[in-house]
Amino acid sequence: MSLKLGVLVSGEGSNLQALIDSIKKNELSAKIVFVASNKPEIPALKRAEKAGIPCQFLNPAEFFTRESYDEAAAQEFLKRGAQLILLAGFMRILSTKFLSYFPGAVINIHPALLPDNPEENEIILPDGTTSKVFRGSSAVKQALEAGTSWSGCTIHLVTEKVDAGPVLIKKPIKIYPDDTIFSLHSRIQEQEHILLPLGIQVWMKKRLTIC
Ligand code: GRF
Repeated sequence: MSLKLGVLVSGEGSNLQALIDSIKKNELSAKIVFVASNKPEIPALKRAEKAGIPCQFLNPAEFFTRESYDEAAAQEFLKRGAQLILLAGFMRILSTKFLSYFPGAVINIHPALLPDNPEENEIILPDGTTSKVFRGSSAVKQALEAGTSWSGCTIHLVTEKVDAGPVLIKKPIKIYPDDTIFSLHSRIQEQEHILLPLGIQVWMKKRLTIC
């Protein structure tokens, strides 16, 4: 039986596309049952529509509280039987309300290296030097501004703390002196697309071990 996936998006949806393609190629035994967006008319929704996946813009302005929005989003996924929720460029912080419906089953793609121990604020780079951990939506910019020689991408479990959940899989990526936010982010995204199906497989194996 294939894994039922729910996906939350806010923008381009290149990671959603990578997932659609990897399922199509049978690299991942999964089915995307629903895609929800907090932004209207974004490329990610068009990608879902094109692939025949049920999708919807859930307008935050129609909800009085973050919790009521998250409750509605969670119900949409639950009624379609989603077992794992993927945040694929979802630019909104989820409340514990949402997470409580999918314990240990919400994963995020972060465009920087995160430490194995979520409490750490420093990470050892492949060249042996250490770097601050870059969390939040400006992680690519932060890495460039800090002048570190490596960045990367991480697929991790989502917890209450932003970008501080257990790591499933990660990959370091070299930063070059002439890198811009665009060039570095593009190289990071290429790797995200490869890492994402692998991260989901790691999650599935861990789940089997726990059950
Ligand atoms: C990705 O780079 C991911 O790391 C970050 O948001 C970006 C989303 O890109 N969380 P896309 O919408 O999947 O193209």
